[in-house]
Amino acid sequence: MNPRTDWTPDSWRRLHADQQPTWPDLGALDDVIKRLTGMPPLIFAGEARSLTSELARAQGGDAFVLQAGDCAETFEDFSADRVKNVLKVILQMSAVLAYSSGVPTIRIGRVAGQFAKPRTVATETVDGEELPTYRGDIINRVPPDRASRTPDAANILRAYEQAASTLNLLRGFTKGGFADLASVHEWNREFLAASSEGHRYEAIASGIDAALRFMRVCGVDSPSLHEVDFYASHEALLLPYEEALTRQDSTHDDDWYDCSAHMLWVGNRTRELDHAHVEFLSGINNPVGCKIDSNCTPQYVLELCDRLNPARHPGRLTLISRMGCDRIVDHLPPIIDAVNDSGHRVLWMCDPMHGNTFKSDGGLKTRRFEDIFEEISRYFSIHRAAHTWPGGIHLELTGENVTECLGGPDDLEDHELHAHYETACDPRLNARQSLDLAFLVAELLADFPPPATTDTRQFPPTDRPAPAAAK
Ligand code: PEP
Ligand code: CO
Repeated sequence: MNPRTDWTPDSWRRLHADQQPTWPDLGALDDVIKRLTGMPPLIFAGEARSLTSELARAQGGDAFVLQAGDCAETFEDFSADRVKNVLKVILQMSAVLAYSSGVPTIRIGRVAGQFAKPRTVATETVDGEELPTYRGDIINRVPPDRASRTPDAANILRAYEQAASTLNLLRGFTKGGFADLASVHEWNREFLAASSEGHRYEAIASGIDAALRFMRVCGVDSPSLHEVDFYASHEALLLPYEEALTRQDSTHDDDWYDCSAHMLWVGNRTRELDHAHVEFLSGINNPVGCKIDSNCTPQYVLELCDRLNPARHPGRLTLISRMGCDRIVDHLPPIIDAVNDSGHRVLWMCDPMHGNTFKSDGGLKTRRFEDIFEEISRYFSIHRAAHTWPGGIHLELTGENVTECLGGPDDLEDHELHAHYETACDPRLNARQSLDLAFLVAELLADFPPPATTDTRQFPPTDRPAPAAAK
């Protein structure tokens, strides 16, 4: 699909790799990577191909993507309940979004591998001592002491094991009855009953009730009402880990797949064109994403599209804009126009989290619910004007009752952030904020202009001027 004859899983090693830790014991790292190379893949390549097909549907306007989960998974916050709770909130959100958009929701977790974090600075001074910054549990640990902050290659194996165990549980939950649409809707009803704003969403909830009743009287009982597909993704940051889990698919032309997750993305700090991360992603056959911020020029984005999707394969490339609610208005439209005019087709996604982070008065990293929603709302307006499909949203959230983002249905205030501020990295929406956001986005989706007929559902529509290259 993406023939790169000069690519190998380790060809990234010839290039500069940003955001890699300084390992104190390279021998130990080598040993771990060798062991990991012999361990089973976490996903099957065929699943990654299915996700590419699903994302191609979303790219064409026939599905909407919800990609969501932790900023940073940790070893400490790992339990069956936590996995269940985050899955539950994603299922609840996806039911609401699917009903309002009229197209299926594709669910992708930031889960089972979201362990490595890029950092603005390499060290920080704590009580007069200069320590390495926390880079995610796959590398070092949060407590600000020398032992915890020293990178330890043994963490890589532990992260792999936790990812395997998480995926195992997710597969069980999503195929074993937990994801039944009727129960998911019942949870949503409970949320609305407990929410002061709940009545606002009554029309959506009643619509879902009616649809479920209608299906029941018609005797519709498809497996898709009881089980769902759920995909795993993470930032491909720690390249030795990704390399070790990259395997050839003997059932499919010996193509290379990074079997650490179904989808991988490159982060905003590591997306340099001639550096290691873009090189690595260019050769794997999984669907891939790239974060883009307001510093990205249209020219840069076109080169990125050429690197990551030279064959212009539908569903292969997702561009995740994370501009901030102020900057998106000026910076996203020229990028969309340039991509459209080039003939490239990408799946557009909005990450309204990472451009809206600031320090609260109490000194905690936070985000305002209203900024998050405002960025999504502007993203929808921009796509409406460009006649492109706002393919999905990318969120940092948890199923727990944390207090990390301001505002939302409980109108969380600055002085309340300390109560349950538990994140190892960025502030996440809690379960109630997440569901409230889903209902608000559902309203945007319900208002988004539908295509005239399903078979002409193409974005951009065919009545747009032909791209320059095709004239
Ligand atoms: C993230 O997704 O957690 C992240 C670090 O995002 P970005 O690369 O957009 O800053
Ligand atoms: Co983050």
